[in-house]
Amino acid sequence: MSAGRPRVYIALPIPDGALARIEAQCAVERFRGDGTPSRDELLAALAEAEGVLGSAQLQIDAEALASSPRLRVVSNFGVGFDNVDIAAATQRGIVVCNTPGVLSDAVADLTLGLILSLARRLPESERFVREGRWLPGETMTLGTDVAGKTLGIVGLGRIGQAVARRAQAFGMAVVFHDQRQEPPADAGFCAYRDLDALLSESDVVSLHVNLTPETEHLIGARELAMMKPSAYLINTARGGVVDQAALVAAVKEGRIAGAALDVFEREPLAADEPILNLPNVILLPHIGSGTVETRSAMLDLAIDNLLAVLRGERPPCPVNLEAVGQKR
Ligand code: DGY
Repeated sequence: MSAGRPRVYIALPIPDGALARIEAQCAVERFRGDGTPSRDELLAALAEAEGVLGSAQLQIDAEALASSPRLRVVSNFGVGFDNVDIAAATQRGIVVCNTPGVLSDAVADLTLGLILSLARRLPESERFVREGRWLPGETMTLGTDVAGKTLGIVGLGRIGQAVARRAQAFGMAVVFHDQRQEPPADAGFCAYRDLDALLSESDVVSLHVNLTPETEHLIGARELAMMKPSAYLINTARGGVVDQAALVAAVKEGRIAGAALDVFEREPLAADEPILNLPNVILLPHIGSGTVETRSAMLDLAIDNLLAVLRGERPPCPVNLEAVGQKR
């Protein structure tokens, strides 16, 4: 560590035990509000900080990095890192870290929950009961089986593979699209398709790619038009991967049967977002990794990453390995 204790900015709420771990080695400044700090607060904190621990919603762009002369590590509490300008960080020798692996099961569980909820019309049926209605005697359209249907997974990384294994246990056939055309051995039997073929063949399409310039609006009007009118779209990855306005239009016009989204182009979702008015869309507030066990494992790993870089060591999960050791 540098002379004296390194200054760390913690931009998210953390429990006392985790805070004590960081305070044992660092001088801590904390954001104590709800959500994420304002831009001004972030820039003021980064002017002094050597390390920052924040959620994947904390925008650390080139301007923020340029105003952080002492910064050595950005430790993201999450697997996504689209909130950080990685090229600018690398150029400045700032290590960016994330928390892959520990959240794959939780996100995959949620994804399967959403597939089953859409297929079996759970939110609609629940509303039905609350309205004092019951079956039989009332007509309500039946759901569909998932067994025997095809799931198209876009992005067969850790989370995509965990989704594939679960879907196969439910009797679904799995096809995938990824940069690598060979499925990893522990994903079970999955067949590669190009994106257009996957979209037109799948009964459910589930997205598991990072948000990058290449994947931004990967699913737009053209891609939605290739899906079956009976198909569902699931997004537990990043909102920007889908053109949300095109999705609203496709669902409204019955060009696909529905969607389930845990992520949005702008979060939190504004009260006047048209997607809020669609009955056959399930909307969740970005809770893919939101279990007690998973969030605790993510925080442990994010702190391991943070402290390792500040000690001058290689962190467990660097995103830009080339920056490790550049700046001391
Ligand atoms: C992640 O891990 O990236 C989650 O989406 C939280 O932002």
